[in-house]
Amino acid sequence: MSQLKNDRYLRALQCLPVDYTPIWMMRQAGRYLSEYRQLRAKAGDFMTLCQTPELACEATLQPIARYKLDAAIIFSDILTIPDAMGLGLHFEAGEGPKFTKSITCMSDIEKLPIPDPNQSLNYVMEAIRLTQKELNGKVPLIGFSGSPWTLATYMIEGGSSKAFTKIKKMLYSEPKALHRLLEKLADSVALYLNAQIEAGAQSIMIFDTWGGVLSHQSYQTFSLHYMQLILSKLKRGHKTSDITSYVPVTLFTKGGGLWFDSIANTGCDAIGVDWTVNLSSIASKGKIAVQGNLDPSVLYADKLTIESNVSTILNEFGAYSGHIFNLGHGIHQDIPVEHVQYLIDAVHQKSKRFHHD
Ligand code: CP3
Repeated sequence: MSQLKNDRYLRALQCLPVDYTPIWMMRQAGRYLSEYRQLRAKAGDFMTLCQTPELACEATLQPIARYKLDAAIIFSDILTIPDAMGLGLHFEAGEGPKFTKSITCMSDIEKLPIPDPNQSLNYVMEAIRLTQKELNGKVPLIGFSGSPWTLATYMIEGGSSKAFTKIKKMLYSEPKALHRLLEKLADSVALYLNAQIEAGAQSIMIFDTWGGVLSHQSYQTFSLHYMQLILSKLKRGHKTSDITSYVPVTLFTKGGGLWFDSIANTGCDAIGVDWTVNLSSIASKGKIAVQGNLDPSVLYADKLTIESNVSTILNEFGAYSGHIFNLGHGIHQDIPVEHVQYLIDAVHQKSKRFHHD
């Protein structure tokens, strides 16, 4: 792998001093970019874009070419694992993800295979290898997966959901079946993420988009427990003077603001936080990095409003060296591209005074 030229993001993940606060954005490659819409049209459909390494690589690099971001995230989707398990993922225009087959009972769960990441998910590994080559050390590359709980919601609901009634019904009436599914997903995710690390991912993020719909108790047993299991299986390497010898892991539970202590106790390196949280409340928690947390809708506002929201977040976190600036969730598809530029410039300019590197 090429020598890394910008290590701000990896340094912040290890809570080491940086010259300014690094920034990347969830869903930074996506429909708000005209070049993405063009590429997506060329690919025909979203899954072809994900499954063609040259195209996935091009999508990954688009936001990096346009903006001074401090990390790239491999272009893919969290639903690649259920697809590789044979559920038939497809996207219907304006409707989000759908599965041809959904999971309803223990016998469906017993039949699910644990995908070999170097077989049915090899397109992701190829995309990572190719993107690393093209990045040539410009910024680090993030690999990712969904959390077992979040993947299970899509597999049981058959697609996106608002009320999560099917999975909650299983949780309360057939908890053993749900635990069996989560166990299989945790095994699959651990294999998948280790293969991504092997292929060249330099940090890992686990998206627990729907952990926040669980009760306090259920969050611990049905979501966090399985993320912890994955963490215990990941080959993160060791911290040395070479920043790239260690692969830090970020756990992001949307709506997980009340559970930081238990999230931090899993042994993750960073917590992703949404915009409902006051970052200063976590700064005292000790040496764990924090990623977030601008409300993505702030990007609809004018330049001054964007800047003042950036200042608020930076002031909350002060000189804390473990802060990675991000949105509290993915960027909306109708955000004007110049507003993203205002955000990135504001983070670069306003964060300098907090750092002394
Ligand atoms: O962040 C990045 O730039 C990397 C790419 C990425 C995508 N999806 C691309 C994508 C990542 C990290 C994801 C993760 C993902 N996918 C999550 C977790 C993060 C989150 O947003 O909470 C979830 C829940 C999914 C599932 C998923 N994939 C949904 C609900 C949708 C539909 C969204 C919509 O607005 O239609 C997708 C499709 C998807 N994944 C798109 C992109 C760019 C849009 C597809 C398109 O081009 O039409």
